[in-house]
Parts: sequence; C-alpha cells; structure tokens
Amino acid sequence: MKISICFGSACHLRGAYGVLHAFQVLFDRYKLPGDIDMEGHFCQGRCNEGVVIKINDEIITNVKVENVNEIFQQKVLRLLACK
Ligand code: FES
Repeated sequence: MKISICFGSACHLRGAYGVLHAFQVLFDRYKLPGDIDMEGHFCQGRCNEGVVIKINDEIITNVKVENVNEIFQQKVLRLLACK
C-alpha cells in the first residue's frame, strides 16, 4: 500500500505535515506491517481541496488532522484486511 501526501504550498499551509504526523502516530499505535510506503507528492491541482492525499490510486481531499483517524479506519485498515 502506498500513501502519499501533497506537500505543495497550499497543502503545506493547510497542514500537510500535521496530517503526516497523525498517520505516523496511527501506524505506531497499530503496529502495522512494514508494507506501507509513505511519500510526498507535488501539487495535484486541487489546492482548494487540500490537504490532498492518495491511498494507492485513490485521491482523498480535505484531509485534516481531525479526520485522519476516520480515513485510517475506513481506508487503510480495510485495505489491509482485504489482503
Ligand atoms: S498544493 Fe496540494 S493540491 Fe495543490
């Protein structure tokens, strides 16, 4: 699984690093297997909807520290359970 976070300037200003940190906290808490790659990506052209992340090929917009846990539960844990 690949999770990438936009670190373009608009997403940076909207809290991309906080989103990254929130994901890292959840990875540590759930002690997930090491087959999750996290990376940054450039602007996706959806700056007004930032923070923009991608989980595999799915784009998710309006990500905030406050909804990372919900996204983690709905997307990451479900995808891992389907493996
Ligand atoms: S800066 Fe993230 S979509 Fe443009």
